[in-house]
Amino acid sequence: MSVRIGPIVLNQPICQAGLAGYSDRAMRLVARRHGCPYAVTEALLDTILLNGGQGLRKSLDINDDDHPVAGQLIGADADSMASAAQILHRHGYDVIDLNFACPVKKIKNKSRGGHMLLDTDRAIGILKAVRDALPPSATTTLSLRRGFDDSAQSTDRFYRILQTAWEYDFAAARVHGRTVEQKYLGRSNWDFLAQVKRTFPDRVILGSGDLFCAQDAVRMLHQTGVDIVWIARGAIGNPWIFRDVAKLLAGEKDLPPPSIAEQREALSEHFSIAMQIHGEQLAGRRMRKMGIKYARFHPDAQQVKQQFIEVRSLRDWSAVLQQWYATDAPGVWPVANAADEVNESDLTCAATS
Ligand SMILES: Cc1cc2nc3c(=O)[nH]c(=O)nc-3n(C[C@H](O)[C@H](O)[C@H](O)COP(=O)(O)O)c2cc1C
Repeated sequence: MSVRIGPIVLNQPICQAGLAGYSDRAMRLVARRHGCPYAVTEALLDTILLNGGQGLRKSLDINDDDHPVAGQLIGADADSMASAAQILHRHGYDVIDLNFACPVKKIKNKSRGGHMLLDTDRAIGILKAVRDALPPSATTTLSLRRGFDDSAQSTDRFYRILQTAWEYDFAAARVHGRTVEQKYLGRSNWDFLAQVKRTFPDRVILGSGDLFCAQDAVRMLHQTGVDIVWIARGAIGNPWIFRDVAKLLAGEKDLPPPSIAEQREALSEHFSIAMQIHGEQLAGRRMRKMGIKYARFHPDAQQVKQQFIEVRSLRDWSAVLQQWYATDAPGVWPVANAADEVNESDLTCAATS
């Protein structure tokens, strides 16, 4: 079941979502090893790319195993978004994705992310500037929420921006079925996703919102008709979700949870790449929150989670693996879903590290 984003062919309709604080190269590579054919960076702030600050190298970090990959940009100004898009293109990103989705409040009066849905002229100015700055062969996509709020005007603005993106040759759009005002409260409106797909049947739509397990992802594909599922919180500490979506789509019904050996392998690989990128201290912080999510698949989930919370160093991390993951055994399916404890509202939405 292949699907395209511009010239890029994906062998499964699945994507590792952009997730600030999570979807670095470590998460993306682990996702790929588990069957994910396409991944998106965390939102990168245009001004950070342009100023070449401290976080730049880590933000731009891709390697040969990490393709096809979309570099996601967020910003308020058309010219600087265009220049930042050129930087990503030069660095070998296969796709440039523009973030008109992030619900984080305006910073210093600058509207960016989901606030573009209140400011159609600015949004359209950015679409045009980015396209004009890139060669015609470059692939661009757009990420947006279904509106700023529930008003009819907001929906009109959504469609105006999306229609313009098609006119400027954007190859696909990711739609999160919550409004900006909603942040993460309430459900993602999948009827809206179905309506977008009905309105643009020949365009590639990535659907987002409330995909916490493989069954959710397959249900979204069938229920809404979107072309690709954008797996976000459901992939945190659960790279097996990609393998399982592929299995379900192939008609397999028996989905065993990942064994302890599989969990150990994913955790070890994830941490070792995170260490290469971030160094011990930051990798430790990032992996603590990852480890807590991975722990859900362990039969002693509560105890393992507690131990991950206490991890401060590489030594602590290795000790948890040694104590809880040394002997193979069957894993378990988590009790609670991945939504608990993970919310974007208090993040800046732009990777600075
Ligand atoms: C912690 C966190 C960070 C996020 N960072 C980004 C981001 O950098 N770029 C982006 O497009 N979306 C970001 N999102 C939104 C997700 O990609 C996704 O659209 C949203 O979580 C809805 O999907 P879900 O309900 O299946 O998690 C983030 C969400 C969370 C919870």
